[in-house]
Amino acid sequence: MTPTLEITDLSKSYGPRTVLDNLSLSIDGGVFALLGPNGAGKTTLVSILTTLLRPDSGSARILGHDTVADARTVRRLIGATGQYASVDEALSGRENLVMVGRLLGLATRAARTRADELISSFGLEEAAGRAVSGYSGGMRRRIDLAASLMCPPAVLFLDEPTTGLDPTSRLGLWDDVAALAKAGSCVFLTTQLLDEAEALADRVAILQGGSIVADGSPAELKRLVGTETAALVDAEGTVHRSFELDGTAHSLERALHNLSEAERDLRVELRTPTLDDAFIAITRATEEARA
Ligand SMILES: Nc1ncnc2c1ncn2[C@@H]1O[C@H](COP(=O)(O)OP(=O)(O)OP(=O)(O)O)[C@@H](O)[C@H]1O
Ligand SMILES: [Mg+2]
Repeated sequence: MTPTLEITDLSKSYGPRTVLDNLSLSIDGGVFALLGPNGAGKTTLVSILTTLLRPDSGSARILGHDTVADARTVRRLIGATGQYASVDEALSGRENLVMVGRLLGLATRAARTRADELISSFGLEEAAGRAVSGYSGGMRRRIDLAASLMCPPAVLFLDEPTTGLDPTSRLGLWDDVAALAKAGSCVFLTTQLLDEAEALADRVAILQGGSIVADGSPAELKRLVGTETAALVDAEGTVHRSFELDGTAHSLERALHNLSEAERDLRVELRTPTLDDAFIAITRATEEARA
């Protein structure tokens, strides 16, 4: 079967600076989250995948279509935020959404229905009737995201979609992304918010130094940095002792079976590695290995 997205030996440099270095990646569907330190090349990669930038060498294909040779077909298959950043300032938010829907081939009635759904999930009811020229930064961002969701594309690219959104709109976007994925769209998102990756993504990859340095489900990435631990903590929060567990009650029993009298009065804290722990450990280890 043709992968939804296939990247082969992709390289891109800006002058002497190599940003993507022989990167290969294949995605079959679902929600894919690309993480990486600032300047790692996430936006560069998204720009190549959305046909806005040409790679120096290697190729990227969306459903078998090359992003350079077949850019027009690729543009029909994808949705991306930023694509409609040229919202018409004079039109209202609702009018903009309906216009995008019409441009993408929806009938007027269907475009209106979809626009109203998105207006409600992004909490834009108050603003939808007003001209976009009077919107705040966050409202503009929401209308831009809503525009990218008007017609479910085969692949949706979201580059740090929740930056600048308030918590309610952020949850609204998460719901929309989950619904879109459930309906069969593939979602490729970049994010710095690891709880966002954890909430949404089936698969997470870390881009660093031009290539993918870790790739797996959020649970797999967390497992790379260790297992659960039980820590004995005093009232000040100082850890006196910690034990590695294997997830079973037995390992906890073994860990705690011969505590000293003083240790018995301490608090037990069970700790599971977070995706943040995994990100920090993996990127640090990669940096050290390359130093
Ligand atoms: N047009 C350009 N000309 C020169 N250098 C560029 C250009 N665009 C990006 N870069 C450089 O390429 C590197 C990767 O940038 P990119 O924006 O892809 O990173 P990113 O992973 O999206 O970072 P962030 O997390 O900060 O959004 C950076 O060092 C950046 O300075
Ligand atoms: Mg970026």
